Amino acid sequence: MMQTMKPAIPLPSADGLWTGLCLAPGAAPGAALEADAEAAIVVAQGAIRWVGARSALPAEFAGLAPHDGGGALVTPGLVDCHTHLVYGGQRANEFAMRLAGATYEEVAKAGGGIVSSVRATREADEDTLFAQAAPRLEQLLADGVCAIEIKSGYGLSLEHERKQLRVARRLGEAYGVTVRATFLGAHALPPEYAGRSGDYIDLVCREMLPALAAEGLVDAVDVFCERIAFSLEETERVFQAARSLGLPVKLHAEQLSDMGGAALAARYGALSCDHVEHLSAAGIEAMRQAGTVAVLLPGAYYTLRDTQLPPIEALRAAGVPMAVSTDHNPGTSPALSLLLMVNMACTLFRLTVPEALAGVTVHAARALGLQETHGVIAPGMPANFVLWNVRDAAELAYWFGQQPVCAVVRQGRIAVGAAA
Ligand code: NIG
Ligand code: FE
Repeated sequence: MMQTMKPAIPLPSADGLWTGLCLAPGAAPGAALEADAEAAIVVAQGAIRWVGARSALPAEFAGLAPHDGGGALVTPGLVDCHTHLVYGGQRANEFAMRLAGATYEEVAKAGGGIVSSVRATREADEDTLFAQAAPRLEQLLADGVCAIEIKSGYGLSLEHERKQLRVARRLGEAYGVTVRATFLGAHALPPEYAGRSGDYIDLVCREMLPALAAEGLVDAVDVFCERIAFSLEETERVFQAARSLGLPVKLHAEQLSDMGGAALAARYGALSCDHVEHLSAAGIEAMRQAGTVAVLLPGAYYTLRDTQLPPIEALRAAGVPMAVSTDHNPGTSPALSLLLMVNMACTLFRLTVPEALAGVTVHAARALGLQETHGVIAPGMPANFVLWNVRDAAELAYWFGQQPVCAVVRQGRIAVGAAA
């Protein structure tokens, strides 16, 4: 089979002593150091061994191979916790339709929307899908992304969902990036099941999910619970199937209307409820109790010219962790910069800068169940961190259209930049 993977050029190891660093607020919660104090990070065998004030560096690490950060600001590797990165074709025509006044729901009902990406995805073979997704992944990685979720949901049959999930796995291997593959077979009703959504959910629960899980292709299960997609009852059937296989769930919840999906997802201990523009007070309370993360997707809000803001103030007051993600997809969020989403989360949703940065690090990791390995810089975790060419963490939210990355350490390797 033709392999369209990147050539395997080994990236330099990040092992050694990183100095000349300024830790962003919240980057290393366990490291006690004063604001503006020079920080150091010790990387050994691809993992964080030590992090703290350089002045407190244990003598045993002083002689390690040096990497001079040159005063860079450091954050944990970014986590993009909600993407639909693997699909065939693109949908610029729908952008034009919406500019002419059509709504997302009207476009979907006219045969466009998710189903048009399903046609293009079914037509593409695995290598073609890989080749189309790879440059998109490269863009996200250049922004400091070290872990990413990739959903299926444009295949809508066992064969084509498998193809998407296999590409997700291959991307992770080819680029040395943590990929969480989420099965979203219940994303839309495939045309061959028109009028038979119960039968399609049977197929999802009885055949597709068990087979794909047995092949090791599924890390979590998602559903699009919405008027134009699947009902609450259908969503629950998928959650039950996931539970019986021991797989965590998450939900596209309350994006266009309040379906009560978030409360249902919380009952199943969901990792996250995503979009949540129409989330109710009861949904917030259920998420709080379950420890479910609210994933905010300003790219979709912006693209759809939505006016219903997610209930940020109520989520904040309840202490529900808020993550921020690109929701990269060809219909509602063709976004390829997580930093731009940080800017939008602040500008459109009024998150504070620390909230938005936590949203693409610690809370995004939790939305993927990766909180033990990603989202903060802590001893024992794989080395994933980003050096930024800025002085102040607020600059990460303030600039847009800029790429202030100066180096990325991903999975213990220097993946971008060459801080000497
Ligand atoms: O997250 N809401 C459903 N799924 C995607 C849109 C997918 C599409 O339009 O292709 C989303 O916005
Ligand atoms: Fe989505």
